[in-house]
Amino acid sequence: MAKSYRFLYSIQGWEDLQYEYRPVSNRHNKYYGIDRTLETQNAAGSISSLCARCHGDYHQGAGNIASLPFGTSGVWLRHPTDFDMGRASSSNEYTTYNNGAGANNPYSVISPVATASTAETMNSTVYAAADDAIVMCLSCHRAHGTPYKAILRWDYKAWPGGGYNGCAVCHTAKD
Ligand code: HEC
Ligand code: HEC
Ligand code: HEC
Repeated sequence: MAKSYRFLYSIQGWEDLQYEYRPVSNRHNKYYGIDRTLETQNAAGSISSLCARCHGDYHQGAGNIASLPFGTSGVWLRHPTDFDMGRASSSNEYTTYNNGAGANNPYSVISPVATASTAETMNSTVYAAADDAIVMCLSCHRAHGTPYKAILRWDYKAWPGGGYNGCAVCHTAKD
Protein backbone atom coordinates (compact mmCIF):
# COMPACT_ATOMS: atom_id res chain seq x y z
CA MET A 1 0.00 0.00 0.00
CA ALA A 2 2.73 2.45 0.98
CA LYS A 3 4.44 1.92 -2.38
CA SER A 4 1.27 2.77 -4.29
CA TYR A 5 0.38 6.07 -5.92
CA ARG A 6 -1.76 8.02 -3.45
CA PHE A 7 -2.51 4.82 -1.49
CA LEU A 8 -4.38 3.42 -4.51
CA TYR A 9 -3.28 -0.15 -3.98
CA SER A 10 -0.60 -1.23 -6.51
CA ILE A 11 -1.18 1.75 -8.85
CA GLN A 12 1.96 3.60 -9.95
CA GLY A 13 2.49 7.32 -10.47
CA TRP A 14 4.13 10.41 -9.05
CA GLU A 15 2.38 13.17 -7.17
CA ASP A 16 2.81 16.88 -7.75
CA LEU A 17 3.13 18.62 -4.38
CA GLN A 18 0.84 21.38 -5.62
CA TYR A 19 -1.61 19.16 -7.48
CA GLU A 20 -3.95 21.25 -9.65
CA TYR A 21 -2.58 24.58 -8.41
CA ARG A 22 -2.13 26.41 -11.72
CA PRO A 23 -1.20 23.26 -13.61
CA VAL A 24 1.14 23.62 -16.58
CA SER A 25 3.18 21.12 -18.60
CA ASN A 26 5.82 20.71 -15.89
CA ARG A 27 3.43 20.90 -12.90
CA HIS A 28 0.89 18.07 -12.76
CA ASN A 29 0.57 14.52 -11.48
CA LYS A 30 2.40 11.83 -13.40
CA TYR A 31 0.21 8.89 -14.42
CA TYR A 32 1.42 5.41 -15.21
CA GLY A 33 0.26 3.58 -18.32
CA ILE A 34 1.15 0.51 -20.34
CA ASP A 35 1.22 0.18 -24.11
CA ARG A 36 -0.86 -2.97 -24.42
CA THR A 37 -0.78 -5.40 -27.30
CA LEU A 38 -3.84 -7.42 -26.28
CA GLU A 39 -7.28 -6.22 -25.30
CA THR A 40 -7.42 -8.87 -22.58
CA GLN A 41 -4.36 -7.41 -20.81
CA ASN A 42 -5.48 -5.66 -17.63
CA ALA A 43 -2.30 -3.54 -17.43
CA ALA A 44 -1.84 -3.90 -13.66
CA GLY A 45 -0.47 -0.76 -12.04
CA SER A 46 -1.79 1.67 -14.65
CA ILE A 47 -4.18 4.44 -13.64
CA SER A 48 -6.69 3.11 -16.18
CA SER A 49 -6.59 -0.34 -14.57
CA LEU A 50 -7.74 1.37 -11.39
CA CYS A 51 -10.92 2.55 -13.12
CA ALA A 52 -11.23 -0.94 -14.62
CA ARG A 53 -11.57 -2.47 -11.15
CA CYS A 54 -15.17 -1.29 -11.39
CA HIS A 55 -15.60 -0.31 -15.07
CA GLY A 56 -13.86 -3.39 -16.44
CA ASP A 57 -15.60 -3.54 -19.80
CA TYR A 58 -14.33 -0.08 -20.74
CA HIS A 59 -10.72 -1.14 -20.40
CA GLN A 60 -10.16 -4.83 -21.12
CA GLY A 61 -11.82 -8.11 -22.01
CA ALA A 62 -12.17 -10.25 -25.12
CA GLY A 63 -14.31 -8.46 -27.71
CA ASN A 64 -14.71 -5.35 -25.55
CA ILE A 65 -12.18 -2.92 -26.98
CA ALA A 66 -11.32 -3.68 -30.59
CA SER A 67 -11.79 -6.19 -33.33
CA LEU A 68 -8.55 -8.11 -33.53
CA PRO A 69 -5.69 -7.48 -33.91
CA PHE A 70 -5.69 -4.92 -31.10
CA GLY A 71 -4.50 -1.53 -32.25
CA THR A 72 -2.93 -2.41 -35.56
CA SER A 73 -5.86 -2.76 -37.92
CA GLY A 74 -9.55 -3.39 -37.48
CA VAL A 75 -12.14 -1.34 -35.70
CA TRP A 76 -12.08 0.19 -32.22
CA LEU A 77 -15.26 -0.73 -30.35
CA ARG A 78 -14.42 1.46 -27.35
CA HIS A 79 -11.91 4.29 -27.20
CA PRO A 80 -8.39 2.92 -26.79
CA THR A 81 -6.79 3.28 -23.33
CA ASP A 82 -3.42 1.93 -22.20
CA PHE A 83 -2.41 2.36 -25.85
CA ASP A 84 0.56 4.47 -26.89
CA MET A 85 -0.13 7.18 -29.47
CA GLY A 86 3.24 6.53 -31.05
CA ARG A 87 1.78 3.21 -32.25
CA ALA A 88 -1.38 4.62 -33.83
CA SER A 89 -1.91 3.64 -37.45
CA SER A 90 -2.91 7.14 -38.51
CA SER A 91 0.06 8.45 -36.58
CA ASN A 92 0.46 11.74 -38.48
CA GLU A 93 -2.60 13.03 -36.69
CA TYR A 94 -1.13 12.32 -33.25
CA THR A 95 2.42 13.49 -33.85
CA THR A 96 1.13 17.06 -33.60
CA TYR A 97 -0.38 16.34 -30.12
CA ASN A 98 -0.86 19.65 -28.28
CA ASN A 99 0.58 21.70 -31.17
CA GLY A 100 3.92 19.91 -31.06
CA ALA A 101 6.09 18.69 -33.89
CA GLY A 102 6.35 14.98 -33.04
CA ALA A 103 9.32 15.17 -30.67
CA ASN A 104 9.27 16.74 -27.21
CA ASN A 105 5.70 18.02 -27.63
CA PRO A 106 4.50 19.95 -24.59
CA TYR A 107 2.44 17.82 -22.14
CA SER A 108 -1.20 18.94 -22.14
CA VAL A 109 -2.94 19.47 -18.81
CA ILE A 110 -6.22 19.73 -20.76
CA SER A 111 -5.99 16.25 -22.37
CA PRO A 112 -3.11 14.54 -20.56
CA VAL A 113 -1.39 11.23 -21.31
CA ALA A 114 0.14 8.51 -19.14
CA THR A 115 3.69 7.21 -19.41
CA ALA A 116 5.46 3.90 -18.84
CA SER A 117 8.15 5.78 -16.90
CA THR A 118 8.19 5.28 -13.13
CA ALA A 119 11.17 7.61 -12.63
CA GLU A 120 10.74 10.42 -10.10
CA THR A 121 10.91 13.07 -12.79
CA MET A 122 8.09 15.10 -14.28
CA ASN A 123 6.98 14.14 -17.79
CA SER A 124 6.70 17.68 -19.13
CA THR A 125 7.20 16.63 -22.75
CA VAL A 126 5.63 13.88 -24.86
CA TYR A 127 7.40 11.82 -27.55
CA ALA A 128 10.61 12.27 -25.61
CA ALA A 129 10.92 8.55 -24.74
CA ALA A 130 9.26 5.27 -25.69
CA ASP A 131 5.68 4.78 -24.40
CA ASP A 132 5.26 8.29 -23.00
CA ALA A 133 2.09 9.10 -24.97
CA ILE A 134 -0.38 6.61 -23.53
CA VAL A 135 -4.10 7.33 -23.73
CA MET A 136 -5.80 6.77 -20.35
CA CYS A 137 -9.25 7.17 -18.81
CA LEU A 138 -8.03 10.46 -17.33
CA SER A 139 -7.18 11.79 -20.80
CA CYS A 140 -10.89 12.58 -21.09
CA HIS A 141 -12.36 12.08 -17.60
CA ARG A 142 -11.51 13.31 -14.13
CA ALA A 143 -11.63 11.03 -11.14
CA HIS A 144 -14.22 12.47 -8.77
CA GLY A 145 -16.44 14.82 -10.72
CA THR A 146 -16.57 17.87 -12.98
CA PRO A 147 -19.35 20.27 -13.99
CA TYR A 148 -19.57 18.49 -17.37
CA LYS A 149 -21.52 15.54 -18.66
CA ALA A 150 -20.08 12.07 -17.92
CA ILE A 151 -17.39 13.64 -15.69
CA LEU A 152 -15.47 14.66 -18.79
CA ARG A 153 -12.62 17.12 -18.44
CA TRP A 154 -14.29 19.58 -20.78
CA ASP A 155 -17.79 20.43 -21.97
CA TYR A 156 -17.76 18.12 -24.98
CA LYS A 157 -21.55 17.89 -25.14
CA ALA A 158 -21.95 21.59 -25.98
CA TRP A 159 -19.37 21.44 -28.77
CA PRO A 160 -19.51 22.57 -31.55
CA GLY A 161 -21.07 25.96 -31.03
CA GLY A 162 -20.05 26.25 -27.39
CA GLY A 163 -18.19 23.92 -25.05
CA TYR A 164 -14.71 22.67 -25.80
CA ASN A 165 -13.31 19.92 -28.01
CA GLY A 166 -10.54 18.46 -25.86
CA CYS A 167 -10.40 15.49 -28.24
CA ALA A 168 -8.61 17.71 -30.76
CA VAL A 169 -5.55 18.00 -28.53
CA CYS A 170 -4.81 14.49 -29.85
CA HIS A 171 -7.10 14.26 -32.90
CA THR A 172 -5.41 17.30 -34.38
CA ALA A 173 -6.74 16.65 -37.89
CA LYS A 174 -10.35 16.57 -36.72
CA ASP A 175 -10.98 19.95 -35.12
C1 HEC B 1 -11.25 9.56 -25.59
C2 HEC B 1 -11.96 10.04 -24.47
C3 HEC B 1 -12.37 9.02 -23.45
C4 HEC B 1 -11.57 8.09 -22.83
C5 HEC B 1 -10.09 7.85 -23.03
C6 HEC B 1 -12.43 7.38 -21.92
N1 HEC B 1 -13.70 7.87 -21.99
FE1 HEC B 1 -15.28 7.29 -20.87
N2 HEC B 1 -16.50 8.55 -21.90
C7 HEC B 1 -16.07 9.44 -22.87
C8 HEC B 1 -17.22 10.16 -23.37
C9 HEC B 1 -17.20 11.25 -24.46
C10 HEC B 1 -18.36 9.69 -22.68
C11 HEC B 1 -19.82 10.16 -22.81
C12 HEC B 1 -20.54 9.32 -23.83
C13 HEC B 1 -21.99 9.76 -24.01
O1 HEC B 1 -22.42 10.72 -23.39
O2 HEC B 1 -22.68 9.08 -24.75
C14 HEC B 1 -17.85 8.68 -21.75
C15 HEC B 1 -18.65 7.96 -20.87
C16 HEC B 1 -18.16 7.06 -19.92
C17 HEC B 1 -18.98 6.40 -18.92
C18 HEC B 1 -20.47 6.61 -18.69
C19 HEC B 1 -21.30 5.69 -19.52
C20 HEC B 1 -22.79 5.89 -19.23
O3 HEC B 1 -23.51 4.91 -19.29
O4 HEC B 1 -23.21 7.01 -18.97
C21 HEC B 1 -18.15 5.61 -18.17
C22 HEC B 1 -18.53 4.73 -17.00
C23 HEC B 1 -16.82 5.78 -18.71
N3 HEC B 1 -16.87 6.66 -19.77
C24 HEC B 1 -15.70 5.17 -18.20
C25 HEC B 1 -14.44 5.22 -18.79
C26 HEC B 1 -13.30 4.44 -18.35
C27 HEC B 1 -13.30 3.50 -17.17
C28 HEC B 1 -12.27 4.77 -19.18
C29 HEC B 1 -10.88 4.16 -19.20
C30 HEC B 1 -10.81 2.71 -19.29
C31 HEC B 1 -12.77 5.75 -20.12
N4 HEC B 1 -14.08 5.99 -19.86
C32 HEC B 1 -11.99 6.35 -21.11
C33 HEC B 1 -14.79 9.62 -23.29
C34 HEC B 1 -13.71 8.86 -22.92
C1 HEC C 1 -15.09 1.60 -6.68
C2 HEC C 1 -15.69 1.46 -7.99
C3 HEC C 1 -15.37 2.54 -9.04
C4 HEC C 1 -14.13 2.93 -9.47
C5 HEC C 1 -12.76 2.41 -9.01
C6 HEC C 1 -14.38 3.91 -10.50
N1 HEC C 1 -15.72 4.10 -10.68
FE1 HEC C 1 -16.61 5.30 -12.06
N2 HEC C 1 -18.45 4.83 -11.32
C7 HEC C 1 -18.67 3.91 -10.33
C8 HEC C 1 -20.11 3.86 -10.10
C9 HEC C 1 -20.81 2.95 -9.07
C10 HEC C 1 -20.72 4.78 -10.98
C11 HEC C 1 -22.22 5.11 -11.13
C12 HEC C 1 -22.57 6.19 -10.14
C13 HEC C 1 -24.06 6.55 -10.25
O1 HEC C 1 -24.74 6.11 -11.16
O2 HEC C 1 -24.52 7.31 -9.38
C14 HEC C 1 -19.64 5.37 -11.76
C15 HEC C 1 -19.83 6.28 -12.75
C16 HEC C 1 -18.83 6.73 -13.61
C17 HEC C 1 -19.03 7.56 -14.78
C18 HEC C 1 -20.38 8.04 -15.32
C19 HEC C 1 -20.67 9.43 -14.80
C20 HEC C 1 -21.93 10.01 -15.42
O3 HEC C 1 -22.07 11.24 -15.35
O4 HEC C 1 -22.75 9.27 -15.98
C21 HEC C 1 -17.81 7.77 -15.33
C22 HEC C 1 -17.50 8.57 -16.59
C23 HEC C 1 -16.83 7.10 -14.50
N3 HEC C 1 -17.49 6.48 -13.47
C24 HEC C 1 -15.48 7.11 -14.73
C25 HEC C 1 -14.53 6.55 -13.88
C26 HEC C 1 -13.10 6.72 -14.05
C27 HEC C 1 -12.43 7.52 -15.15
C28 HEC C 1 -12.51 6.01 -13.05
C29 HEC C 1 -11.01 5.92 -12.75
C30 HEC C 1 -10.36 7.17 -12.45
C31 HEC C 1 -13.57 5.41 -12.26
N4 HEC C 1 -14.78 5.77 -12.80
C32 HEC C 1 -13.36 4.56 -11.19
C33 HEC C 1 -17.72 3.17 -9.68
C34 HEC C 1 -16.36 3.29 -9.80
C1 HEC D 1 -4.92 11.46 -25.34
C2 HEC D 1 -5.19 11.45 -26.77
C3 HEC D 1 -6.60 11.28 -27.25
C4 HEC D 1 -7.72 11.96 -26.84
C5 HEC D 1 -7.83 13.06 -25.80
C6 HEC D 1 -8.82 11.45 -27.63
N1 HEC D 1 -8.38 10.48 -28.48
FE1 HEC D 1 -9.53 9.36 -29.76
N2 HEC D 1 -7.93 8.23 -30.25
C7 HEC D 1 -6.64 8.42 -29.81
C8 HEC D 1 -5.79 7.37 -30.35
C9 HEC D 1 -4.29 7.23 -30.12
C10 HEC D 1 -6.62 6.53 -31.13
C11 HEC D 1 -6.21 5.26 -31.89
C12 HEC D 1 -5.86 5.58 -33.31
C13 HEC D 1 -5.39 4.36 -34.10
O1 HEC D 1 -5.56 3.23 -33.70
O2 HEC D 1 -4.82 4.60 -35.18
C14 HEC D 1 -7.96 7.11 -31.05
C15 HEC D 1 -9.06 6.59 -31.73
C16 HEC D 1 -10.30 7.18 -31.76
C17 HEC D 1 -11.40 6.74 -32.58
C18 HEC D 1 -11.39 5.53 -33.50
C19 HEC D 1 -11.15 5.94 -34.91
C20 HEC D 1 -9.71 6.04 -35.23
O3 HEC D 1 -9.27 7.16 -35.61
O4 HEC D 1 -8.99 5.05 -35.11
C21 HEC D 1 -12.44 7.60 -32.36
C22 HEC D 1 -13.81 7.58 -33.02
C23 HEC D 1 -12.00 8.58 -31.37
N3 HEC D 1 -10.69 8.29 -31.03
C24 HEC D 1 -12.76 9.60 -30.88
C25 HEC D 1 -12.38 10.47 -29.84
C26 HEC D 1 -13.26 11.42 -29.20
C27 HEC D 1 -14.71 11.66 -29.56
C28 HEC D 1 -12.52 12.05 -28.25
C29 HEC D 1 -12.95 13.10 -27.24
C30 HEC D 1 -14.15 12.80 -26.47
C31 HEC D 1 -11.18 11.49 -28.31
N4 HEC D 1 -11.14 10.53 -29.28
C32 HEC D 1 -10.12 11.91 -27.51
C33 HEC D 1 -6.21 9.44 -28.97
C34 HEC D 1 -7.04 10.33 -28.29
